Amino acid sequence: MHVNNNFKWQIAEDYEEVSRLAASYICASILSKSNFLLCTASGNTPRKAYDLVAEQMAGKSFRLLALDEWAGLSPDNPYSSAFQLNRQLVEPLDLRDHFLFNGKNENPQNEIDKVQQYLSENGPIDLCVLGIGTNGHLGFNEPRAFLEPVAHLSKLSDTSRSHSMIAAADYIPEHGLTLGIGDILRSKKILLVANGSHKRDVLSQLLSRHITPQLPASFLWLHHDVTCICDKAALP
Ligand code: GLP
Repeated sequence: MHVNNNFKWQIAEDYEEVSRLAASYICASILSKSNFLLCTASGNTPRKAYDLVAEQMAGKSFRLLALDEWAGLSPDNPYSSAFQLNRQLVEPLDLRDHFLFNGKNENPQNEIDKVQQYLSENGPIDLCVLGIGTNGHLGFNEPRAFLEPVAHLSKLSDTSRSHSMIAAADYIPEHGLTLGIGDILRSKKILLVANGSHKRDVLSQLLSRHITPQLPASFLWLHHDVTCICDKAALP
């Protein structure tokens, strides 16, 4: 492990090892305390790790909170984040206490209010599992002149709208529902997972340690306990 200020780096050979390391980290964290609140990104990066968590946590219970969702996609839409988290974690582990956004709610403010309420009753998050967009986004906190501290409806960047996760969806969302950068930074621990050479450029920007809303992930430098697990291909 390499420690760079508050960032602890674990470098893996490949995606398989990234997934094993991330799953071990997530499981050990969950087991360290009762009634654990895990916040989860969706997307390609954590897919294999979540399968391993579902295997290793059989019979264990924890609370689950979704980091973000594509506005307009319902939980039964296979391209939605809720669909992924339901199939990979909620259903196999029979998790009863969870909050997943309903991206199809015609009044997105309702979903924002609900997640704020969930967080005020259940927070802070014990561990927030994040991926990183190739443009440096966290959840749907997109690069722009300013960032929002709390949950909000975010206008998606072109980069997000061309994410492979929704490439085959009938409808390409224009907005996303997301926890805010303050919600993320209030988590007790943060796990950032990245793999593949397409993440090398953004990790290189992150490593410059210049904190800017144009690279939302750079705000992680303000957190006291971030672990970043990435493979050699993603490493600048
Ligand atoms: C998506 C999601 C994020 C995810 C990120 C990276 O758009 N909004 O929650 O972490 O982009 O996705 P991937 O892991 O597929 O590269």
